[in-house]
Amino acid sequence: MGNSYLEVVDRAAIERRVSELGQAIAADHEGLNPVLVGVLKGCVPFLADLTRQIDIPHEVDFLLLTRFGERGRVSVAMDTAISLEGRHVILVEDIVDTGLTLSALLRSLSVRAVAGVKTVALLDKVPRRIVDVPVDYRGFEIGDEFLLGYGLDWGGRYRNLPSLWAVMDMEQLTDLDATFPTAAFGNGAG
Ligand code: IMP
Repeated sequence: MGNSYLEVVDRAAIERRVSELGQAIAADHEGLNPVLVGVLKGCVPFLADLTRQIDIPHEVDFLLLTRFGERGRVSVAMDTAISLEGRHVILVEDIVDTGLTLSALLRSLSVRAVAGVKTVALLDKVPRRIVDVPVDYRGFEIGDEFLLGYGLDWGGRYRNLPSLWAVMDMEQLTDLDATFPTAAFGNGAG
């Protein structure tokens, strides 16, 4: 793999942690028929695994945000298909970085008369936080390295890597012809 990328969380560790998060969410939402609302597109692998670890009845829906300007301003480009009014909403994010996206999203939900909102993020980049946002269920705390894989992208690419990789050399990514070494798709043996 060279020195440009480093696997920071392997598949087995992701699986274990997602299972723990699913069990905690299930225990806290018994009888509430919550709705997992995935924030597209980075949530997709995480949400697909998480929903299968939550062994109580629940629904799944999605939101797509458009980011514009500075300071993390967002608007809802695609809203949920179901109404969230009166529902126990669990927002599912791949990563919370500055917190600006999640805080904008929580503001927009606060006018929708939901019954409750919880947040779950696979990754929490604690040192980069600008606004204080509640992360109720957190997979892993990380530093300020740039990560790829398991939903996380750079320019729309690399979301398909099965585990999480830190980019040690951002120059590598600026070459659009560079492809991630196929070892990243192996069973950890590559
Ligand atoms: P925030 O608004 O700064 O919290 O940023 C949230 C968004 O930034 C995430 O949903 C990701 O799309 C993106 N992001 C932040 N850190 C990373 C990273 O390390 N890799 C890939 N995307 C990231």
